Amino acid sequence: MPSHDIDAVRLELLERVKVSETPRDILRAPEFKDLYSAIGSLSPEEKGPYGKSINELKQAIEAAVDERVAILESGEVVALDVTAPWDANSTRPDFLPTDEGSQHPLTKEMDNVIDIFTRMGFEAVESRQIDDDFHMFGSLNFPENHPARDGYDTFRTEEGFIPPAHTSTMQNRILVAGKERLEAGGQIAAISYGRVFRNEDVDATHEHTFHQSEGVFVSKDATLGQMLGTLRNFFEVYYGQSLRIKTQPAYFPFVEPGLEFMIEKPAVLGGKDGEWLEMLGCGMVHPNVLEAAGIDSKKYRGFAWGMGVERLVMLKYGIEDLRHFESAKLNFLRKFA
Ligand code: PHE
Repeated sequence: MPSHDIDAVRLELLERVKVSETPRDILRAPEFKDLYSAIGSLSPEEKGPYGKSINELKQAIEAAVDERVAILESGEVVALDVTAPWDANSTRPDFLPTDEGSQHPLTKEMDNVIDIFTRMGFEAVESRQIDDDFHMFGSLNFPENHPARDGYDTFRTEEGFIPPAHTSTMQNRILVAGKERLEAGGQIAAISYGRVFRNEDVDATHEHTFHQSEGVFVSKDATLGQMLGTLRNFFEVYYGQSLRIKTQPAYFPFVEPGLEFMIEKPAVLGGKDGEWLEMLGCGMVHPNVLEAAGIDSKKYRGFAWGMGVERLVMLKYGIEDLRHFESAKLNFLRKFA
């Protein structure tokens, strides 16, 4: 029997050992007998090497059996769950369709937002849910004890950590991480997204917990025009129609100039001519914010924006009360299944 048959038996038996609940039985597999009985038909010169190969095979299988026995005895084996909701015949983990469950509307819409921006070339980073004063304020050009800090109604832990009140808390990290690429002639283009927290009285338009999505772009020659084009494109894709936009001045310590970005309420959503909606805050990244990340503000410039995701979704679906999102009411959630 040629040696490639021994190799085939080796592979087959090793596979069997891996999943066997009684691995020692495999030492008595009929394949061994077949291999031994083939010795009779070999020439005297072939017998030696062939016998040696069988011995090596036996040792390899014995070692694998010992290993498998040890795993079984340690109780580490994860049982196969035949009730798992995926297709066992698929080589990829495709989920089976279900009528029972559904994604939360915010999860779905956040995925939409991320999709639109990543297709424009932005990287997406999830925002932290606990951070420090430096990232939330200091690196964003909020001086110590500056009244602008009060506008953010932040919670604080007893140790002085902050559940961030805006996704801008990621800006410094994004800038620091992108600095090398920038200096090598590239650009920084990233969005951050996630939960934010504010110590506010809850009503139909205010929640202590909500979601934001934020973008930062830095290059040698970024312009406000590029920012307006990027945002307009985002809103047009998100609402599926062309839109008019306008801006008005606004103050945020981390941008200069700072703007409020508005869209004309989409006609498909019942908007009438001249009905404007404030959608987000934005502006050119303040030089101090670039410098705090070690980026030379004389060589590079950037723009940034930050928007509330609930507001975006409420407008899309005509949802009138922000509190529905955190309510876990099934009759609300099922409308988006
Ligand atoms: N972080 C600001 C807010 O939450 C929004 C913003 C982000 C404004 C980036 C300008 C630039 O209100």
